[in-house]
Amino acid sequence: MDQKVSALLNEQINKELYSAYLYLDMANFYDAKGLDGFANWYEIQAKEEQDHAMLMYRYLHNNGENVTLEAIAKPDKEFETLMDPLTAAYAHEQYVTSLINAIYAAAQEAHDYRTVQFLDWFVKEQGEEEKNSSDMITKMELFGSDAKALYMLNSELAGRVYSAPSLQL
Ligand code: FEO
Repeated sequence: MDQKVSALLNEQINKELYSAYLYLDMANFYDAKGLDGFANWYEIQAKEEQDHAMLMYRYLHNNGENVTLEAIAKPDKEFETLMDPLTAAYAHEQYVTSLINAIYAAAQEAHDYRTVQFLDWFVKEQGEEEKNSSDMITKMELFGSDAKALYMLNSELAGRVYSAPSLQL
């Protein structure tokens, strides 16, 4: 495999694990506020990020590449309002999309079409993750200031269940 592409995927494992840690911190914030549905949403999101990391880990090993696991940074975002994690999550997903796009471009440049095909799933996934995180902001804008509506929204988010990624390696 092209060594630049391999290195970028290796770095992305760390970024996905950081994403998991960031989302766990958001779950932590909402749990402390008594909003167990919001916490559930982000706990599941954290699991999905671990899945993303593991897909990259497995892909690199399947292609004979070594993986180096680096330290995962401390989640350093400060949350005060109930909206803060939601806007941070959306901004974070936009950032992750830019990272996936950069690896995609590097794979194309290296004519590494196997990796391009592998990353197609992530490109689509990022579209879904940006939409989900943007929808959360919209819902909070609509319902967040009314206690009953917030209770209903929290109940809705409590219903999110984990499902394994549709991409299997
Ligand atoms: Fe792994 Fe939320 O992107």
